Amino acid sequence: MNDSGGVARNWAWPRKARGHEGTARALVGGAPQAEYTVEFDGRPLRAVSGQSVAAVLWSAGILAWRRTRSAGAPRGAFCGIGSCFDCLVTVNGAPNQRACLVPARPGDRITTQEGTGHAR
Ligand code: FES
Repeated sequence: MNDSGGVARNWAWPRKARGHEGTARALVGGAPQAEYTVEFDGRPLRAVSGQSVAAVLWSAGILAWRRTRSAGAPRGAFCGIGSCFDCLVTVNGAPNQRACLVPARPGDRITTQEGTGHAR
């Protein structure tokens, strides 16, 4: 916004963003990060530094990684901000981790969570 409260008409993309206009990465001046591998139900998935577990799963086309206790209905991320708890997943043997908040780390073993995630 300009001093009068309106949007500046002569705004231009930052110089280093040219060639990438219109991308989120260009807006923040970001650069690609190192890739690493995590495992989901025994399947290797590529991850990029800074991604949450949910972002890694979404990037691989996986939209559900939990089943509800009563009906066994599939669940994945819903709110994406840590409020709904729909995205619970087991990470490195620890159940009930919110995939939208937990950062993925190299070598993580992520598994589908059934019911409460605890042994009966
Ligand atoms: S998607 Fe709602 S808490 Fe993770």
